[in-house]
Amino acid sequence: MLAGTLDIHVELEKTIADFKNTEDAVTFSSGYVTNLAAISTIVGRRDIVLCDKYNHASIVDGCLLSGAELKRFRHNDMDHLEDLLKRYSDRSTKLVIVDAVFSMDGDIINLPALVELCRKYGAWLMMDEAHSVGVLGKTGRGIEEHFGMQDCVDVKMGTLSKTIPSVGGYIAGKSGLVNLLKHAARGYVFSAAIPPAQAAAAKASFEVIIDEPDRIEKVQQNARIFIDGLQAIGFDTMSSETAIVPVLCGTDEKAYELVRLCQSQDIFVLPVVSPAVPEGLSRLRATVTAGHSKTQIEHALSVLEIAGKQAGLI
Ligand SMILES: Cc1ncc(COP(=O)(O)O)c(C=O)c1O
Repeated sequence: MLAGTLDIHVELEKTIADFKNTEDAVTFSSGYVTNLAAISTIVGRRDIVLCDKYNHASIVDGCLLSGAELKRFRHNDMDHLEDLLKRYSDRSTKLVIVDAVFSMDGDIINLPALVELCRKYGAWLMMDEAHSVGVLGKTGRGIEEHFGMQDCVDVKMGTLSKTIPSVGGYIAGKSGLVNLLKHAARGYVFSAAIPPAQAAAAKASFEVIIDEPDRIEKVQQNARIFIDGLQAIGFDTMSSETAIVPVLCGTDEKAYELVRLCQSQDIFVLPVVSPAVPEGLSRLRATVTAGHSKTQIEHALSVLEIAGKQAGLI
């Protein structure tokens, strides 16, 4: 706030605000810090936050830091969310926070139902777009574009460490919100800015998304080919519809075994086990990118098929 903001930070924030169709944006040193800093500034002790059970850990930590009461609703369950909104309707400040695409499951939040509920019960809506920017929507603008909706998310959060291959995080929204965060968010005021070279890399990455929309089509196509291929082999990909593709293994041991067999054939996948996911739902977490060719995906599928049979999963 005092001295760390260079022209390149202002340019990056303007690029993000334009990309997300908001009045302004503010950047932080990481996505994790963004959630911590933003949530703990927006809500406090007398407020209530309603979170999807599968929200990212940084959202949970932000809520804990804020001192607000935290209630969690069942994953993507809008009836449960409505029950909670009704129960706490007397609270003057209610904030609903969700991931747009869930980081371990790859499924998409039901935005239309969520927006209807937030409006009905006067709650603010904050959306973590770590896994949806550059992946969802025809031009990669994210969750609102995916559902053909506009201006329905009050606090638009994202990271610069995934589809945008740099480091940092952002909040995009009304200029009043951004101004508040720039003056009151401790994770902004008391932490250094994104290194200038990384800010420039992030800005250039948004420009690539804007200039080369065929990459968005490609990542969506690759996700479809990979998910369909895994299902045809007999794997359970849970409810993924995006580039994050879980391959259900059940026990931790099975997940480790499948990963070991794939990595021995140079397929880079990682295990996700409890407590990151519920016990019994351990999985291999795979991702596709726009950079993968059809041949590479087919090769990965054939390695997975052999490994899955060896591990007794299919
Ligand atoms: C949904 C979600 N939010 C926030 C973060 C934190 O982002 P970063 O790694 O940039 O700190 C991550 C990734 O780790 C994430 O998956």
